[in-house]
Amino acid sequence: MNDPSEPVARHDEPASRPGDAVAGAAAGAPAVVDVVRDVDVGGLVAGGEALARLGDGRRLLVDGALPGEVVDVALRSVRPRLARAAVVGVRRPAPTRVQPPCPFVAAGCGGCDLQHAAPDAQVGLKVGIVVDALRHLGGVVDPPVEAGAALPDRGFRTALRLGVRAGRAGFRRRRSHDVLAVEECLVAHPALSELLAEGRYGRAQEVTLRVGAVTGERLAVLHPTARGAVLPADVTVVGTDELRRGRRAWFHDEVAGRRYRISALSFFQTRTDGAAALVQAVTVAGGDELADAGRVVDAYGGVGLFAAALARPGGAGRRVVLVERSASSCADARRNLSGLDARVVNVAVERWRPGPADVVVADPARAGLGRVAVDVVAATGAAVAVLVSCDAAALARDTRLLGERGYELAQARVVDLFPHTHHVEVVSRFVRR
Ligand SMILES: C[S@@+](CC[C@H](N)C(=O)[O-])C[C@H]1O[C@@H](n2cnc3c(N)ncnc32)[C@H](O)[C@@H]1O
Repeated sequence: MNDPSEPVARHDEPASRPGDAVAGAAAGAPAVVDVVRDVDVGGLVAGGEALARLGDGRRLLVDGALPGEVVDVALRSVRPRLARAAVVGVRRPAPTRVQPPCPFVAAGCGGCDLQHAAPDAQVGLKVGIVVDALRHLGGVVDPPVEAGAALPDRGFRTALRLGVRAGRAGFRRRRSHDVLAVEECLVAHPALSELLAEGRYGRAQEVTLRVGAVTGERLAVLHPTARGAVLPADVTVVGTDELRRGRRAWFHDEVAGRRYRISALSFFQTRTDGAAALVQAVTVAGGDELADAGRVVDAYGGVGLFAAALARPGGAGRRVVLVERSASSCADARRNLSGLDARVVNVAVERWRPGPADVVVADPARAGLGRVAVDVVAATGAAVAVLVSCDAAALARDTRLLGERGYELAQARVVDLFPHTHHVEVVSRFVRR
C-alpha cells in the first residue's frame, strides 16, 4: 500500500457548476464546490478516512476511499485547514476494492465501514493507520508495527449494541441516529443474529445483546426498560431500570479454558476468539520480563481477562494486582480470580497509589492513558509496560507521553478484532530505558 506519510496530493480541477459553493467555506478561501472529481488519495488515517488534498493544498479526509485510488467525492464540510468528503464515484479502484459482501451496507447500515476492502487486505490498512499515527502524532520515526494472526471475518461478534424502532432491533444508519432493522448480520455471532431477526424489544430504545461463544449463554440488556420484550426463553433479559434498582444479571464465557462471569454492566471483549488472541499477544509483548515477573499490574483490568491468564495460585511467586474503576467488573473479577494470587482494587487508575511492579499491563478505554495514568504506570518502576490500545491516535499520544517518562516503544502488533471496520486493537511493548 501507499506510504501513509506521503499522501498523494493531486486534485484535478473541480467540476464547477454555478451555485454549488459549499456553505461554511472559510472567508477568503478559494471557492469550493460540492463535488470534486479525480481526487488521488493516500493512506488511511486514524478514524478510517483516506488522506488527500484539495487543489488549494488543504487537507482532505475522504470517507470510503482506499489508498492509491482516484475517486470523485462530495464535500461534507470545508474548514480553513481541513475538508471532509465522501466517495461518490471510483474512477480508478484499488486492486483490493471489493463489492461489500453484506447487502445492508448499500442500505445505509453504519455497522461496518470497511467492507469495500478485501478481508485479507484490511489488517494491512490498519497497520498503515497505526504507523501513520505513531509517526505523525507519536513522533516515532520508524514505527515497529506488525500484523497479528488473522481471525475469522464472519459471525464473530459476541456483543452488539443496537437501536430499536417499532420493537425491532437494528444498526444505526451511517452518520445518523435512524435505526435500520436488519434480518441478518454478516459479523454477528449466529446466536445473536437469531435475536436480531426474531427478537421483539417492546418499549426499549436501545438493546445490548451478548453471548458467550463457548457457553452459549445469552444476555439482553434493554434501555430504558425490558417491558414488552419477547425473546427466546434461554435469554436472560434485563432492563436498565431494573439494574438501577439493584437486580444483577450476567452470562459466562470461556477464554483459553478459563471461565469468566460477565455482568450486564461489565466490559468484555466483543469476540471470544479475539479475547484469546489478545491474551496471547499480551503474553508475547510481556516477553521474558513477564514470564519471570513476581509483581504484575493489570490496569483497567475489567472482569479479569488478562489477570486470570497471568495470575498463579498462592505460593507460586507471582502476585497480580488488578485496578478497575467499575464496581460491577470488580465484583466479577473477584469471582473470576478466586483461587489465584490476585488482588482487585476498585479505583480509577488515575487515583490509584501504585506499589512497585515488574510488569504493567494497561488496557484503557478509547481515550487511552493520558498524562496522569502514564505517570502512574511509570511510578511502578516496571521494566516493561504492555499497552493495549483501541484507538490509533490515543496510542500515538500515549507513546509520546510514555517516551517522556522513559519508556520506549519496542514493538506494536495489530490484532484485528474488528474486521470490516476501520477500528484497530494494538498491543504494544514498551521497555524502560
Ligand atoms: C477496554 S476495557 C478492558 C478490560 C479488560 N482488560 C478486558 O480486556 O476485558 C477498559 C476497562 O477500563 C475500565 N476503566 C475505564 N476508565 C477507567 C479508569 N479511569 N480507571 C480504571 N478503570 C477504568 C472500564 O470499566 C473497562 O473495564
